[in-house]
Amino acid sequence: MAEIIEPFRIKVVEPIRMTTRVQREEMLREAGYNMFKLRSDDVLIDLLTDSGTSAMSAEQWGALMRGDEGYAGSRSFFRFRDVVHELTGFEHVIPTHQGRAAERILFETVCSPGDVVPNNTHFDTTRANVEATGATAIDLPAPHGLVPGEPHPFKGDMDVAALEATIDEHGVDRIPLVMVTVTNNTGGGQPVSMANLREVSAVCRRAGIPLYLDACRFAENAWFIKTREEGWGDTPVKEIARAMFALADGCTMSAKKDGLANIGGFLASQDAELTRQEENLLILTEGFPTYGGLAGRDLEAIAVGLEEVLDEDYLAYRVASVRYLGEHLAKQGVPIMRPPGGHAIYLDAAAFLDHIPRSRLPGQALTAELYLAGGIRGCEIGTVMFGHTDPETGEEVPSRMELVRLAIPRRVYTESQIKYVIDVILEVWEQRRSLAGYRIAEQAPVLRHFTARFEPLAATSSAPS
Ligand code: F0G
Repeated sequence: MAEIIEPFRIKVVEPIRMTTRVQREEMLREAGYNMFKLRSDDVLIDLLTDSGTSAMSAEQWGALMRGDEGYAGSRSFFRFRDVVHELTGFEHVIPTHQGRAAERILFETVCSPGDVVPNNTHFDTTRANVEATGATAIDLPAPHGLVPGEPHPFKGDMDVAALEATIDEHGVDRIPLVMVTVTNNTGGGQPVSMANLREVSAVCRRAGIPLYLDACRFAENAWFIKTREEGWGDTPVKEIARAMFALADGCTMSAKKDGLANIGGFLASQDAELTRQEENLLILTEGFPTYGGLAGRDLEAIAVGLEEVLDEDYLAYRVASVRYLGEHLAKQGVPIMRPPGGHAIYLDAAAFLDHIPRSRLPGQALTAELYLAGGIRGCEIGTVMFGHTDPETGEEVPSRMELVRLAIPRRVYTESQIKYVIDVILEVWEQRRSLAGYRIAEQAPVLRHFTARFEPLAATSSAPS
């Protein structure tokens, strides 16, 4: 088969400033060894997130000029609404400035204290917005999604038996909605199969509970269904996406991912009365229902992005480039979550740096070294993000896993830049025994990973765990 190449050529370039290890040591020290405190100008390859970091196409940039900035009834809104309606089938579409705004408005409208919201796995803002209403967010991932080293085509699936048990336990009246996140970001960017979505949908419809998709990466999920699930190989990916939405009653969406836009999102459903209540909340903090916190030009960019993202040459390239990174690492023995997800590779830092005890933050140590060795910015998803310091002993209580996420921005980096990332990671892998742990020198009481300052520990003091 011919090589899968980037299905675009480059019209505008954004220079990257080359730096040396010595310069990066200084910059990282100044940033308190925290990736969120680095200036992006000081990063060579920025894999912190795939959110809002896509390169827009010439069509999208052109569409910006068409933006109608009318406060009410903007032409750009109707264009945006028609594209979302055509894709999802949902009648009522509310624009929001990003995904979490849609989440807040939805959950504030439907949840009450004591309610329960099941999801295959909540993203952190989704969980926080459920919990802010006094409801409980429950993760119900399928058992085959929970073993990092063991490949399965649909590790994002929901555990249907556990969903039924949850409905029995809490009762229909306590469950205002069920959500399925496609792809499952927290679980490694892993897809949900159509078969699983159908089963979840059938359970919800029998119980009379609305089903919502957290649709951030719906196109990548649809591509995995096309290429991995029996019976879908000949169906255009746009139809697969429509079939996914047809199984749900509504969705939240961050257009910063598969909307191929730098900002934006939406909330959509078939429920007119619910939408009226949601629009009242929207007006309070986001804006009038025909712009919802976005400029008219943003609505135009999203409308174009939602169509471009379903281009099958684009999706083939997108998934191949993430897989390319993952497979080259796995072949050399680097421990990663398998199979590679749609938008990111997750390094298993606990296995990568198995000589560094969890209390000495191996995920932080690996993240810092990737930056020092090659100017690569990844994101620790481990004890720094999800663990905590025991107030009595001062000891770190570790999280379930120690991962480092390398999220790939859409249409941004070329194959040679991905090769560079592989080279740097392999170099760090070779020298892993020389790395030592970190300690937290300063931290905030909540969401500490954004602002904490760290200190490197001496190599000799990192005893085996
Ligand atoms: N749901 C999922 C599955 C997400 O991955 C995100 C964002 C959101 C909801 C919230 O959307 O950022 O537009 O408010 N994920 C980003 C990430 C931040 O880096 O994975 P938002």
